[in-house]
Amino acid sequence: MKHFLKDTDFAQHEIPEVFALARELKRQRGKHAPPTLEGQSWALIFSKSSTRTRVSFEVGIRELGGHSIFLNQNDIQLGRGESIADTARVLGRYLHGLVVRTFDHSDVEELARQGGIPVVNALTDFLHPCQIYSDAFTLAECWSGSAGAQLESLKGKKIAFLGDCACNVANSWILGANRFGMEISLAGPECYAPGPEIRELLKQEGYAGGYTFTDDPVAAVKDADVVYTDVWVSMGKENEMRDRLDELQPYAVTQDLLDGAAKDAYFMHCLPAYVGKEVTREVLEGPRSVVFDQAENRLHVQKAILSVLGKSGGR
Ligand code: CP
Ligand code: NVA
Repeated sequence: MKHFLKDTDFAQHEIPEVFALARELKRQRGKHAPPTLEGQSWALIFSKSSTRTRVSFEVGIRELGGHSIFLNQNDIQLGRGESIADTARVLGRYLHGLVVRTFDHSDVEELARQGGIPVVNALTDFLHPCQIYSDAFTLAECWSGSAGAQLESLKGKKIAFLGDCACNVANSWILGANRFGMEISLAGPECYAPGPEIRELLKQEGYAGGYTFTDDPVAAVKDADVVYTDVWVSMGKENEMRDRLDELQPYAVTQDLLDGAAKDAYFMHCLPAYVGKEVTREVLEGPRSVVFDQAENRLHVQKAILSVLGKSGGR
């Protein structure tokens, strides 16, 4: 049985299949829908807000012939203290898969261990792999021309990540960049540098030292093919808002900063964006911004991921 909890849960040789499927699903959307989840019921268990992830998964499951059930953590007994292990063992008797957005990464690991059905990480405090696969697919589309989203087009490209370099999207991009053969350089204040947990995971995956970190945003974006940022105040960090807005201000993506990257560099943001904070309107709405392509590709790439996982086992 296959789970998708972290960027490296697909081996290097499996990623071309995911991209090829996503390409095909995107091309054929509305014309032909392969019923890869026919007869299957998948639950979405979300303990945090979501626009893109929730809607793209619900629509995606439906378009693949499956049925989705949305459960806010507080709607079920989990919110009243039932253990994750018991919840997983019960839900595994009814469902064919779980899509989970929560705080502790260990919770998705426990659900995967106990449930007997595929589990997809829809964002934890540690990682957001669905986002990074969709972003990588978007870049592959940008760089592959009429061939359409070829994984090889990512090889050797440089991504610069600015701002909170210890957040889930940064961590997942560190892992993903290594998986996709890209170089990643991050810039932020020292107190938001990538932490020991991601360094340990990189080591386990054979990618020790697979990133560079600096407090100089200009140095990080130099020669970068992509400049990426995320919100400065991730979900669950609202009590740190004031400090974060002050400390991260020098890392805002402005047109000047983007002009210091490689010629024709793309701007990316996982969204939601806070204009005037981590990015200026000029950059977000500018000709190099691909933020809405990233958002659209969540649907196609996640459908591909679900299709692969849905045939991997479970009920
Ligand atoms: N990028 C992303 O995951 O957006 P949502 O929080 O709206 O799902
Ligand atoms: N780092 C952000 C990502 C939102 C999609 C958060 O966790 O809130």
